[in-house]
Amino acid sequence: MSKKNSHLQRQIWKHYGDKPLPKEVEKLIQTISDSYNNYEKENKLLNRIMNISSEELFTANSELRKRNDELDRFVYSTSHDLRAPLTSILGLLQLIELSENKAETDKYIYQIKQTTLQLDNFIQDIVNYTHNKKLEIDSEEIDFEVLIEECLSKLNFMSDADAIKKIIEVDASIPFKSDRQRLHNLFSNLISNAIKYCNPNTENPFLKVGVTVNGKEAEIVIEDNGIGIDRTHLDKIFEMFYRASAKSKGSGIGLYIVKEIVEKLGGSISVESELNKGTLFTLTLPNQK
Ligand SMILES: Nc1ncnc2c1ncn2[C@@H]1O[C@H](COP(=O)(O)OP(=O)(O)OP(=O)(O)O)[C@@H](O)[C@H]1O
Ligand SMILES: [Mg+2]
Repeated sequence: MSKKNSHLQRQIWKHYGDKPLPKEVEKLIQTISDSYNNYEKENKLLNRIMNISSEELFTANSELRKRNDELDRFVYSTSHDLRAPLTSILGLLQLIELSENKAETDKYIYQIKQTTLQLDNFIQDIVNYTHNKKLEIDSEEIDFEVLIEECLSKLNFMSDADAIKKIIEVDASIPFKSDRQRLHNLFSNLISNAIKYCNPNTENPFLKVGVTVNGKEAEIVIEDNGIGIDRTHLDKIFEMFYRASAKSKGSGIGLYIVKEIVEKLGGSISVESELNKGTLFTLTLPNQK
């Protein structure tokens, strides 16, 4: 016979004390007790489900708010960052039309080229952002040295790129698998920042990329002795379109994309920086075996 419900037990005690119960009553009470126990069990389960759904609803709601806020910023900033270079190209074209001096027109053509490259980079960033959101994670063996070299050679066009000493240290005796395209994007953004924000007053500007692979994950450090980031900005640099200083030369989407990629791959990223000393990013990425 199953255990009697405790509420019911108390009621029986009130009426019958410790007198034995008539058989029919005992049977009836057992049936009521079983139904009551079942009801209590279902009630507890229902409460648990309701708690879970309200928690999920709360999480979904804050995620939606965050995305909505990002969308607002996205529309505002993209319209500005797409229009500004176009306006400047139109202005430069007018100057070319008016100019009769070859050296002067060459200078304007060079500026148009730089502005167009900047615009192309920005559009590429937006495409990368969308790809990261939509595409499934790909997994292939990564040769970090090749990948880093590829990124560096693509960034060679940046002014200052030549002047910076590059130190690459890869310790990867264990195979590491991950999403090559996403890693390419991630390294490109972090390396381009180290070049862009190098310190013009430093005698020996450097950029150091270190990778250590173990069976579980890869630890990546990207360090520079550039202009550094003010402490008051450090916790915001991963936000969409956030620029940490007036010296910023981009749209502020690079580190946001980096953070999104790291999240997608299930890794982590942190930053340490000191003004006029330099910046150090540390990442851990899981081995997608
Ligand atoms: N290595 C670094 N050294 C100094 N400041 C940095 C460094 N990396 C990022 N920052 C600061 O953080 C801000 C955000 O970086 P992020 O890469 O998102 O944007 P960006 O480089 O300005 O533009 P984008 O990457 O979109 O071209 C930068 O504007 C800059 O102020
Ligand atoms: Mg950047």
